[in-house]
Amino acid sequence: SRFLFGLYGHSAKLLKSKLFRAAASNTSFPEIWLLLVQYFERIPGFFGVVKRNSFFTMPEILESKADPELFSPNPEVRGMTTLDRAAFSRIIVVPVLKVKKEVINKLMKSLRHTTLQRPGLKRVIDDPKDEDSRLVLLDPHKIAAEYSLGESDQEVLKQFNVDPQVSKYNLELTYDNFKTEEILRAVLPEGQDVTSGFSRIGHIAHLNLRDHQLTYKHLIGQVIIDKNPGITCAVNKINIIDSTYRNFQMEVLAGEANMITKTRENYITYEFDFSKVYWNSRLSTEHGRIIELLKPGDVLFDVFAGVGPFAIPAAKKKCNVFANDLNPESYKWLLHNCKLNKVDQKIKKFNMDGRDFLLGPVKEALTKELSLLTKERKHSLHIVMNLPALAIEFLDVFKHFLDGKPCSADHLPTVHCYSFSKHDHPAKDVQERAEAFLGTSLEGRCSTHLVRNVAPNKEMMCISFQIPAEVLYKNQFTNEENPEEPASKRLRPNEDSPEEKLPSLKDPL
Ligand SMILES: C[S@@+](CC[C@H](N)C(=O)[O-])C[C@H]1O[C@@H](n2cnc3c(N)ncnc32)[C@H](O)[C@@H]1O
Repeated sequence: SRFLFGLYGHSAKLLKSKLFRAAASNTSFPEIWLLLVQYFERIPGFFGVVKRNSFFTMPEILESKADPELFSPNPEVRGMTTLDRAAFSRIIVVPVLKVKKEVINKLMKSLRHTTLQRPGLKRVIDDPKDEDSRLVLLDPHKIAAEYSLGESDQEVLKQFNVDPQVSKYNLELTYDNFKTEEILRAVLPEGQDVTSGFSRIGHIAHLNLRDHQLTYKHLIGQVIIDKNPGITCAVNKINIIDSTYRNFQMEVLAGEANMITKTRENYITYEFDFSKVYWNSRLSTEHGRIIELLKPGDVLFDVFAGVGPFAIPAAKKKCNVFANDLNPESYKWLLHNCKLNKVDQKIKKFNMDGRDFLLGPVKEALTKELSLLTKERKHSLHIVMNLPALAIEFLDVFKHFLDGKPCSADHLPTVHCYSFSKHDHPAKDVQERAEAFLGTSLEGRCSTHLVRNVAPNKEMMCISFQIPAEVLYKNQFTNEENPEEPASKRLRPNEDSPEEKLPSLKDPL
């Protein structure tokens, strides 16, 4: 009995200091009550004062105010690195309303703004004291002060002949009832950012954790899996993309280490090995934007095609597609996705360096296509170059790319070239760099589009332009004209002459 008394004395001292701190910081009623509940709960058999999920009425001795910490897990989980789900449980006090079984369904609709909504938590529970009644759990943050319902709710209760008396209920919140952010905020060091955003690629959650989160990386991965149905694997990017093939180095944080995944983008299914190819779910809008520009019969040359997010939807839209990627794994999955989406016949696939692709198959196909184009037979030719770190440097390929007579301005191929920019004026920066590689001005004849913000002060841009004829063609004159004559004389205003429609060049070739 001395031992028990000692234990009680020690407990009382601790409790006093906790209560003092709580009172000093003007803590609201539920928190003080919670301390009592948690404290006595730890003393086995403590007069049975507090039972989990127990229902009781109490005089309104203390003021009830919204407590922002009310839905936080047990504070003892702070610093946990291996997930122990049971340790998150905590008992909180919530208001409940006793309601007859018969009216519960109708009443729930009217009270939906006031009831307690937590993940995996039933809002209506059995009344342990009355089998003809149920208890409706209310959200303490959403009801009027002092544990009473607001006027409109009271009106509703009157209609259903329900006693508006609100009682208190000891509710056990478990790991399942907390949101990801609440769990991580309770575990990670106080005051640190717990952002747990991720990209979803089929069953894979792709995280990009910050340094301070790395100690908790396995726990974070497991929480993401637990809280997101369908996700069975969490990976973390371990360096910035620097490989030739633009695939991320990654580490499996939790779950199955199966990197072969299936995902959908703009209603099209893609399958690939996420650890070996490039895929970025944040580009879906951009892929869609380019596809919108295409019409059936147009030709698309995709120089850095990846597993096909431009090529396959373009083929679905009845365009003729030439798709290339240097990465043998991307090429393999590109072939697979063409079959998967039944567009194999519409896409010619290549596995070579982008420059060789442009100088070989693209040059040959462009020459042929342009010779077929007439005023009547019009379709557009598009060249997509999505390798933002390098694509601009490939633009010099187009200098004197084609032989023969320049085509009409309308038929000149359109390039959509992607680039990162860390410049204060990214559009200007990208245009200037493109101009340098093309050796001509694009002023007034290009458009730049902000694709996305990649990092603070780093934008991904897309510059689109028709390749100026004076860049694209070796010869600026028609076959009938005398090549010995100066160019200024040779270029007569002509309906079909591209130069006529273009502003004068700052920096002619
Ligand atoms: C940024 S990803 C774009 C993939 C896809 N077009 C998309 O929008 O998601 C760039 C692709 O270019 C490929 N690549 C990198 N260097 C290349 C090169 N020199 N020639 C051809 N492809 C290259 C990579 O393997 C990667 O699949």
